[in-house]
Amino acid sequence: MKQKLVVLTGAGISAESGLKTFRDADGLWEGHRIEDVATPEAWQRNKKLVLDFYNERRRQLLLAKPNPAHFALVDFEKDFHVNIITQNVDDLHERAGSSNILHLHGQLRKARSTRNYNYIIDFDGDMSESDRDDQNNPLRPHIVWFGEAVPELPNAANIISEADLVFIVGTSMQVYPAASLIDYAPPQAQVHYIDLNPADVSHIRRKINIHSGKAAEILPALFRKITS
Ligand code: OAD
Repeated sequence: MKQKLVVLTGAGISAESGLKTFRDADGLWEGHRIEDVATPEAWQRNKKLVLDFYNERRRQLLLAKPNPAHFALVDFEKDFHVNIITQNVDDLHERAGSSNILHLHGQLRKARSTRNYNYIIDFDGDMSESDRDDQNNPLRPHIVWFGEAVPELPNAANIISEADLVFIVGTSMQVYPAASLIDYAPPQAQVHYIDLNPADVSHIRRKINIHSGKAAEILPALFRKITS
């Protein structure tokens, strides 16, 4: 029986692939305030701005490639049963070849109905206000915006509650409820936090091994160390 490794990933794991993180530069995400493009209010106020923003992100994603951090998590599958729980809306874990990936905040390359949460389709082109589901309801980006429920949270909590080993990679641990998932890890599970500029996690009442640096360098090294 392989041990269970659960990996919580955030924007930092895709930084080396050329995708910008959210809070690193000046609080702006690709020149926008998150509140202006990633909330239900923003969608009500200006659908075109929101659609243009995600269209641009989608085009950028199609040009990006997985980096050694994504590939290292595939390597871990040789020795562990690996589950990835990602806050990222990119598909770089999928393209690297990881087997079990749960997207907490949705996916850029999908669209969903504004009326029917179960109507979710692949969507690779640019989305416009005239795009509709099969009942003629408007489509929207398949993204969990600020202020919206996180439907995959119970599944994610179940997965991490069975972990033997946990990695937290490239996340500022500022966005809830994603950041609270670590509370569901069993007390005996070893936790490693890998981040270029690790957040203060002293409020989390358990031992966390902190590795400061680029995920694309630390994860491959951690693989060699843990599996040697
Ligand atoms: P943040 O932008 O808040 O944090 C990115 C983290 O990645 C920071 O802690 C950086 O230090 C770290 N980082 C940057 N480059 C790195 C590298 N090369 N290697 C390792 N770490 C690196 O991104 P998230 O925590 O993912 O939500 O943000 C969480 C959520 O906020 C996102 O899912 C998004 C956003 O609003 C939605 O889109 C709904």
